[in-house]
Amino acid sequence: MAGYDEIFRSSVEDREGFWLRAAEALDWHVAPTTALDESNPPFYRWFPDGELNVAYNALDRHVDAGHGDRTALVYDSPVTGTKRSYTYAGLRDEVATFAGVLRDQGVGYGDRVVIYMPMVPEAAIAMLACARLGAVHSVVFGGFAAKELAVRIDDAAPKVVVSASCGIEGSRVIEYKPLLDKAIELSDRKPTSTVILQREQAPARLGPIDVDWAEAAARATPADPVPVRSTDPLYVLYTSGTTGKPKGVVRDCGGYATALAWSMPNIYDVGAGETLFTASDVGWVVGHSYIVYAPLLAGATTVLYEGKPVGTPDAGQFWRVVAENGVKSVFTAPTAFRAIKKEDPNGEFVAKYDLSSLKYLFLAGERLDPETYRWAADLLGIPVIDHWWQTETGWPIAANPAGIELLEVKPGSPTRPMPGWDIQVLDETGAPAEHGVDGAIVAKLPLPPGAFPTLWNDDERYLNSYMKAFDGYYLTGDGGHLDADGYLFVMGRTDDVINVAGHRLSTGGMEEVLSSHTDIAECAVIGVADTMKGQVPRGFVVLKSGVDADAEGYEDTLRAELVQMVRDQIGAVASLKDVAIVPALPKTRSGKILRKTMRGIADGTEEAVPSTIDDASVLDTLRPVLRRE
Ligand code: COA
Ligand code: AMP
Repeated sequence: MAGYDEIFRSSVEDREGFWLRAAEALDWHVAPTTALDESNPPFYRWFPDGELNVAYNALDRHVDAGHGDRTALVYDSPVTGTKRSYTYAGLRDEVATFAGVLRDQGVGYGDRVVIYMPMVPEAAIAMLACARLGAVHSVVFGGFAAKELAVRIDDAAPKVVVSASCGIEGSRVIEYKPLLDKAIELSDRKPTSTVILQREQAPARLGPIDVDWAEAAARATPADPVPVRSTDPLYVLYTSGTTGKPKGVVRDCGGYATALAWSMPNIYDVGAGETLFTASDVGWVVGHSYIVYAPLLAGATTVLYEGKPVGTPDAGQFWRVVAENGVKSVFTAPTAFRAIKKEDPNGEFVAKYDLSSLKYLFLAGERLDPETYRWAADLLGIPVIDHWWQTETGWPIAANPAGIELLEVKPGSPTRPMPGWDIQVLDETGAPAEHGVDGAIVAKLPLPPGAFPTLWNDDERYLNSYMKAFDGYYLTGDGGHLDADGYLFVMGRTDDVINVAGHRLSTGGMEEVLSSHTDIAECAVIGVADTMKGQVPRGFVVLKSGVDADAEGYEDTLRAELVQMVRDQIGAVASLKDVAIVPALPKTRSGKILRKTMRGIADGTEEAVPSTIDDASVLDTLRPVLRRE
């Protein structure tokens, strides 16, 4: 069998042939004869003459091939004490019925459906039901507050919103319905109806546009899969950019399904009948790709886990899930392992379970620090694979391709680029950086299948945010370097995006919230290193003149108000807990706040103060606050 080098080379030298062969892993309604439409760069389109249905590929075709009895999805929810399995035939039927429910609500080809749900199987069912109808889903992470949901509803303009009465966070029940109602109230593009899954922990009172999931399903007739163009959108997934307005990353059908189908055996080494446990959330790209679509496209079993790695009931839950389901690969974020390490530093829970099925641990979502890497590798005695990807890319850009061959591991590196990813590191002038020297990580166009073809209703922002910095390259927004062996080291974002517990957030969005407080003249939010969450935001605010900061209790009250505002407007997931009131913010002479310099001081990695600084004394005053002295 060919090794990594040969496979990678063939993806570069014979790009079209490589991906047309990969596309044969799917059942096409009309098989593609052309791999790539290059007529309108940088808007490339994969398999332009192909037609397929992704939900059919994920479910029906396995049933039709005689594998209807295989387990497709295991729902494991320690927070509700529930475990439930769906066979491929069973899940296909649920999806077809729910597609019938959506059709009854007027949803058809090309319509958008927003899905705002906790980690319950119905979230995956709703996604697949949209795919079955050729509708476009947009899943919004349940940890986002009403305002964030409203912004996404306005942008996607969904016909229907699918939600649940509540989610469960540890021992807390979070009612979703009031958040959904508020979001619809705030939005200008109101859906015509909502479908609500009633959960017994907190059933919701339904209003005039609300439909009860169970009642509607009892009335619905199953819908058949609708073949769509390969280039049609399967979903829109909003992700944080530099500003507060999220970017609607568009995913096509054929390219995405092809890339995922390729990745399962070659990267994750999981095939039909084997089990992948991805501990993330359907609201993130990792959840879209490796909880829902990829394992099902591969005919494998996916575990949908509702809960945290620690807490309810203990730090042994991941190992219990592995042992009970014969999991072959686990995929989660490094922060989950740091949380487990804190609770169970000596791995006592690991020893309690039979983990003989477990062959790999995959980690992504943030930089895998070498200490966490070593702890996990020593604890489990299996390959621990760091891999790097983004919402925009849909699948790993760089990885250690376990199913092809395990390459030597260099801690701190997500190893080497995957097929189709021509990764380069450029300096500010656009010249290739020397080996070992950090620069902007870019990917030469065209991007491989699976990567985003554009942003929803915003070609202009796609061009400006990603394609303009270096002509002919996609700007990833990450900085890092390549070493002499072609290993990539991803060091962190070069923009104002931060990664908190594996969740991608915009500091710009938090700044918008803070500056809306009547007492705030200006503010800055930076991401600082955190031993558990990787990064956490810290806010710095300057008061308007005339505000009496000396009034008794003023500062504490203001801080509490600001923290609560971010929680209410963005969501608890923003994790902004620390706001300092400062006399001024350091700026360049042209008025740009020196956030990078502030970050360096806070993290203890301070570099030379830029010569463009307007007033260095401002930074001197701020230094002890940043260092928490
Ligand atoms: N609905 C409502 N609230 C949510 C939520 C959801 N879906 N998800 C998170 N929150 C809340 C949490 O309850 C918490 O609230 P609090 O401040 O009142 O305690 C807050 O948002 C911050 O959440 P989080 O950053 O996840 O912190 P945590 O302490 O609850 O958990 C980890 C920390 C590391 C255990 C958890 O983030 C984790 O398992 N992450 C790794 C897996 C992952 O999801 N990765 C994403 C991409 S791979
Ligand atoms: P998201 O779009 O939410 O998946 O977040 C993508 C961002 O997470 C990337 O741009 C990186 O900054 C970061 N990231 C993801 N995986 C890794 C990794 N393996 N190493 C370093 N950073 C990572």
